[in-house]
Amino acid sequence: MTCCHHYQLSPGGDLLFAVDVSRLRYGVGAMNELGEEARLLGLKRLAIYTDARIAQLPLFSEAMGALHSAGLQAVIYDRVRVEPTDASFREAIQFAVDDEFDGFISVGGGSVMDTCKAANLYSTYPADFMDYVNAPIGQGRPVPGTLKPHLACPTTAGTGSECTGIAVFDLLQLESKTGIMARPMLPDRAIVDPRWTDTLPSSVMAATGFDAISHALEALTAKPYCQRPAPQDASVRPMTQGANPWSDMLCREALRQCGQYLVRAVNDDNDKQARHGMMYAATVAGIAFGNAGCHLPHAMSYPVSARVQDFSPEGYPGDESICPHGMSVIVNAPAAYRFTASGCPDRHLEGAGLLGADTREVVAADSGEILAQQLQQMMCATDMPNGIGGVGFTSSQVPGLAQAAALQQRLLSVAPRPVSDQDLHDLYHDALSYW
Ligand SMILES: [Fe+2]
Repeated sequence: MTCCHHYQLSPGGDLLFAVDVSRLRYGVGAMNELGEEARLLGLKRLAIYTDARIAQLPLFSEAMGALHSAGLQAVIYDRVRVEPTDASFREAIQFAVDDEFDGFISVGGGSVMDTCKAANLYSTYPADFMDYVNAPIGQGRPVPGTLKPHLACPTTAGTGSECTGIAVFDLLQLESKTGIMARPMLPDRAIVDPRWTDTLPSSVMAATGFDAISHALEALTAKPYCQRPAPQDASVRPMTQGANPWSDMLCREALRQCGQYLVRAVNDDNDKQARHGMMYAATVAGIAFGNAGCHLPHAMSYPVSARVQDFSPEGYPGDESICPHGMSVIVNAPAAYRFTASGCPDRHLEGAGLLGADTREVVAADSGEILAQQLQQMMCATDMPNGIGGVGFTSSQVPGLAQAAALQQRLLSVAPRPVSDQDLHDLYHDALSYW
């Protein structure tokens, strides 16, 4: 199905790709080995980053018991904000600065793991906050060296943050998300225990699961690594280097499992096979996009989650407006893939097929539509909002969204076709509603 010329080398293009992966343990009961893992990292006094909900779960108490039994001193920071901001990052960084830790453990979803990465970075190499933030929004300053050990334990099936060197947050003054990206921020080890999904609310399962789907779809359809100019030296080769044969392999497996399990995992709390399968798929998709990159759906999602008002889905803290990350991605995704399909139609079609669409007798020109329809069908089956209109946006807000998304050059540059400011404007209009 995939075009054999996809990785044809071109003059001036990069000739090689890199693979960066956390050392990970996956399986039911993996959290019981937390103490041993921490000891292997040489930790004695460490900071535990988590959020208030996770800190109340029996599995969290078990994990702290495992650390205690291993003779480790752990100090808990449970004030991580779901969908973090630069303000919540700063508070979490201060916690690390005020003590002397020899390493970090994060127990939570992407918000927790990303906050922990930032705390590790800024407490190890203090700097002005915007120094390490991706250019052109921040200075994009390189991280000077290795960080303290970080052991990441994801508790949701979506973000894949345990396998990436990326930390995303909402920059309040910009009313958009942005991020910090650096290889040293890749967690040293990850413990992926699918038992965390047993107690996940269905709405969280759905939002995080669609994040994993889009990670795999975006990495599979990203501009190939060999079409990016070769770096002047290896240290500046971006982690978001583009699609490559390694990430392709993982994207295909992740999409196959998401197609098989997501709807079941959302609609039946007791379907452990589906929920645990989604946990595996999310980690696999995380490794893939961490080594390839995401593009248009994620770029479009950042202003949506930062500007949402009067919206708070079930299963999330109800004290303020929130559009969870995966939800903000998927409400834009059908419009985005209809647009990007012409960049690599065969890969969009392949993605649709892996998710369960019937792709027999379909011509390449229809691949974007087939993929968008497949996603819309899965969104309906899991009670996702109907486009950005479904989370409260109107056409009058489209110009502001488009202007903010245009700043996400790190992501847009990985898209399989160029994206202009006018394209973004049209895409948000297309994403207002789908059915
Ligand atoms: Fe994501």
